Amino acid sequence: MSVLKISVASSYLGRFIHGSGSVNRNRERGMASAMLSEQLDGTHSKVTGDSFIRLHLKKISPYQPILPFEILSARLGRKPEEIIKLDANENPYGPPPEVAEALGTLKFPYVYPDPESRRLRAALAEDSGLESEYILAGCGADELIDLIMRCVLDPGDKIVDCPPTFTMYEFDAAVNGALVIKVPRLSNFSLDIPRIIEVVNLEKPKCIFLTSPNNPDGSIINDEDLLKILKLPLLVVLDEAYIEFSGLQSRMNWVKKHDNLIVLRTFSKRAGLAGLRVGYGAFPLSIIQYLWRAKQPYNVSVAAEISACAALQNPGYLERVKNFLVQERERLFDLLEKVPYLKPFPSFSNFILCEVTSGKDAKKLKEDLANMAVMIRHYNNKELSGFVRISVGKPEHTDSLMKCLKLLE
Ligand SMILES: Cc1ncc(COP(=O)(O)O)c(C=O)c1O
Repeated sequence: MSVLKISVASSYLGRFIHGSGSVNRNRERGMASAMLSEQLDGTHSKVTGDSFIRLHLKKISPYQPILPFEILSARLGRKPEEIIKLDANENPYGPPPEVAEALGTLKFPYVYPDPESRRLRAALAEDSGLESEYILAGCGADELIDLIMRCVLDPGDKIVDCPPTFTMYEFDAAVNGALVIKVPRLSNFSLDIPRIIEVVNLEKPKCIFLTSPNNPDGSIINDEDLLKILKLPLLVVLDEAYIEFSGLQSRMNWVKKHDNLIVLRTFSKRAGLAGLRVGYGAFPLSIIQYLWRAKQPYNVSVAAEISACAALQNPGYLERVKNFLVQERERLFDLLEKVPYLKPFPSFSNFILCEVTSGKDAKKLKEDLANMAVMIRHYNNKELSGFVRISVGKPEHTDSLMKCLKLLE
């Protein structure tokens, strides 16, 4: 019994990445589907499931998500409430009480949600000062990143990514068959603007993903740099998932002036709704119409929409929680500076990046803390080897973390 092997997979991908012409690509795609047809015709006896998978997907490593509370709790043998979760930049205060109330009185869970999320977009228009026609909601900002790529990128198109940054841009680009041109950030994590301009001129990428404040270091992009990039012939996606913690104004209303700018935001951080999955974006009108056509009709669930609306009904709570987290960030920073083996970086967000120094191993530090039920994020990629990121929690979380860090001195 012969098992189908699509041997063109790696050569196809290799050529693809090096930008060979569409003739080769089409020929190889044709070969793959001819082989598959033979299998289905019965010329060969067995078809394996992965014969059906698109070739470029076979090379992608799976996304490494953070472990959910229940799994962590079983693994560590501790109750979920005992775990101090400082690894995913969640908002430990959760949403305002209006959200639980709204969910508890949900009347029509059996009816599909409004595909246009009209109530939520009206509430967001009031919240942001930008008219609702410029706003589209999604199942988290994550969905919108993928949706933008699906609308903009043909296989083989290029995007610019500025690592270290949120890894979903690179991940979604790979899923969408796009190529990623990396322009690493400078040692202070600011953007390398001259290099970005050079790469845009040379490689003609279609879009750039920028994050302000940036995850994982918390630095922000100033107006001057952003305006320089907006002058380039490419679509600029500005991810403001953490903007509330920066003390700066969102640039959502810039989309009225800049036809090549998209601004993304989320309820995950500002409103403690990461589990309910609601994000939103501000788009130029010339772009948003195509996202409406391409999005899944019911991408924002009834529960997600009413939760987000309920959260916006209590702006005083959102402001208070944000202030607690900003205050706690400053206290945490001062305390981390005193840890002899950590070098924290100033942050405009709800997390602090630290270099692990004095010969201590960052991975071991993460593991030692995890064994004490304190979860932080460890990095071991090219740009951030030997770094950890610590989310800002409640004061008692900081206190427990500091006790554990002291034990590890
Ligand atoms: C920079 C950045 N953008 C977007 C997201 C995802 O947001 P959402 O939870 O709305 O999908 C995250 C999540 O951590 C993030 O760090």
